[in-house]
Amino acid sequence: MTSPNILVKGPTQSPSRVMKSETAAITETALITGASSGIGLHLSKEFARHGHPLVLVAPVATELQEIASELKTAGAPLVRTIAKDLEKPHSPQEIFDELARDLIYIDILVNNAGSAHRGKFWEIDIDDDVSVLRLNIEAVLRLTKLFLPAMIENRRGRILNVASVAGFEPGPQMAVYHASKAFVLSFSEALATELADTGVTATALCPGPTDTDFLEKSGTLGTRLFQKTNVMAPQHVAKAGYQALMAGERVAVPGVANKIIAFSRRLLPEATLAKMTERIYVDTTDRTHERGHEELKAAHGR
Ligand SMILES: NC(=O)c1ccc[n+]([C@@H]2O[C@H](COP(=O)([O-])OP(=O)(O)OC[C@H]3O[C@@H](n4cnc5c(N)ncnc54)[C@H](OP(=O)(O)O)[C@@H]3O)[C@@H](O)[C@H]2O)c1
Repeated sequence: MTSPNILVKGPTQSPSRVMKSETAAITETALITGASSGIGLHLSKEFARHGHPLVLVAPVATELQEIASELKTAGAPLVRTIAKDLEKPHSPQEIFDELARDLIYIDILVNNAGSAHRGKFWEIDIDDDVSVLRLNIEAVLRLTKLFLPAMIENRRGRILNVASVAGFEPGPQMAVYHASKAFVLSFSEALATELADTGVTATALCPGPTDTDFLEKSGTLGTRLFQKTNVMAPQHVAKAGYQALMAGERVAVPGVANKIIAFSRRLLPEATLAKMTERIYVDTTDRTHERGHEELKAAHGR
């Protein structure tokens, strides 16, 4: 393995100093997984707007290249794209080695890529469950394990782990997804404590329902969750995530309604939570009208 020490270091600044200056943030290069759509795409735009050099990771090269030129126009001084399937266990090491070879040092790691499958546990193929765990957990661990040591050595760096409000409760109909996000949330909070006084921070971003392609991909668009509850725009989630990361917050829950939900989840018994959550993943009874992305967009004034 290539030693992280050979990577080019930017000017030494503690995260707190960087926070105070918008221009100082320009020196911080961010690697964002799942950058080709949804929250990851809007996080990438947020980083670009603040002038960060970027490394974008997602499975499809052509999609990333299109986004890269858009982000350069938006303000990113440099955009590198790496097409990788993060469900493959060797992908994180390949990404790390490619960047090390080109002396690209990562100051900010954004573990955003994630997936889910809706249905009763016994109805879902075991390979689909394992795919979710590989992407939502294993890739997060491997990338963090690879990029964190150099951050600690340089006494500066930031990690943003995209968890979910799903991490606060068991999720019947989405059992493996909720369990995976509980892992990410717990891991991120523990890591944040371990990192105290190292100059490196870890932030768990816990969005509630957000209007992205995740709805179709996970089979949840027609559920009560997306048809009947408040759904946030991905750009609002991304903005909140960026601000929380740069402020070094441990846990960020965007949106007032989601904050109340997350807080109440810390107080209620697990069995009550599981029953409550089961209801939100039921197909809506009102089949005469289904909210789609256009209607959700209009509701946000987008
Ligand atoms: N949407 C919500 O309601 C919601 C709520 C809370 C938390 N989250 C979390 O937010 C994160 C982003 O989700 P999103 O809503 O923005 O979903 P999305 O629009 O589906 O975006 C997911 C991103 O991850 C990429 N990805 C999927 N499989 C991958 C793989 N095997 N290797 C590398 N990249 C892969 C996707 O690329 P392709 O498009 O090419 O597959 C895409 O860029 C996830 O961790 C999700 O769990 C979402």
